[in-house]
Amino acid sequence: MKSVLIIGASRGLGLEFVRQYRRDGWLTLGTCRSPEQDALLTSVGATALRLDVADENGFANLAKALDGNSIDVCIYNAGVSGTRSANVVAPEAEDFDAVMHANVLGALRAIPVVAPALARANGTFAFISSRMGSIGLMSGSGSITYRASKAALNAVVKAASLEWGPKGVTCMTFHPGWVKTDMGGAEADIEPAVSIAGVRKVIANATPESNGRFFDYTGKELAW
Ligand SMILES: NC(=O)c1ccc[n+]([C@@H]2O[C@H](COP(=O)([O-])OP(=O)(O)OC[C@H]3O[C@@H](n4cnc5c(N)ncnc54)[C@H](OP(=O)(O)O)[C@@H]3O)[C@@H](O)[C@H]2O)c1
Repeated sequence: MKSVLIIGASRGLGLEFVRQYRRDGWLTLGTCRSPEQDALLTSVGATALRLDVADENGFANLAKALDGNSIDVCIYNAGVSGTRSANVVAPEAEDFDAVMHANVLGALRAIPVVAPALARANGTFAFISSRMGSIGLMSGSGSITYRASKAALNAVVKAASLEWGPKGVTCMTFHPGWVKTDMGGAEADIEPAVSIAGVRKVIANATPESNGRFFDYTGKELAW
């Protein structure tokens, strides 16, 4: 049975990944931060693991669960948008830290814990970034902290691809589209089911040549 780990699985895109992988019969581990979310994940057939990616010691449980095991796919989905700004302005330090810790530091913590389990299965490590993190495609200056955090995440994924690609792990980063979730809002372009079906298809068709590249949910490659 194929296995998937979704980091940040409690709602929105993460929960949609859980639903779709379960529907296809995958062994599904999802991380969340509360007992209510444990129960939700269990009710859709996943195994719940408690993890706050911003907590320095948060990955100990996951490290124990993965020790010596292999997994086929991991999706680093956890992310926050922080306070939205119209211009290039300095955020409150607390706001900056919250965004960078969830979007970047959490990914850096996840990589050494998860990548060895993926390497045992020649698996795929997918990171949910955003087109807003693309420097090449940037066409606005709003939400600068979020943009900077996703650009930093992209750099982390590229570096991880150089290190883990030769060990059999395909590292990819994704723009999921503008999606109707708590973060995307009701005015967004597409439903989570469409976004996640697309991302899953790109992951399913990944080859070693996909390592270190940035795609959207339709499979179109994006500029860094
Ligand atoms: N929606 C869009 O249009 C859009 C566009 C581009 C990129 N993205 C990216 O897609 C990903 C998912 O976004 P979404 O739209 O589904 O947002 P969402 O509905 O706000 O969900 C965010 C998810 O991240 C988790 N999370 C946040 N901070 C965490 C932490 N410190 N530790 C563990 N989990 C944490 C949340 O868990 P809790 O429930 O515990 O808070 C929740 O499961 C994010 O990385 C986001 O940047 C979204």
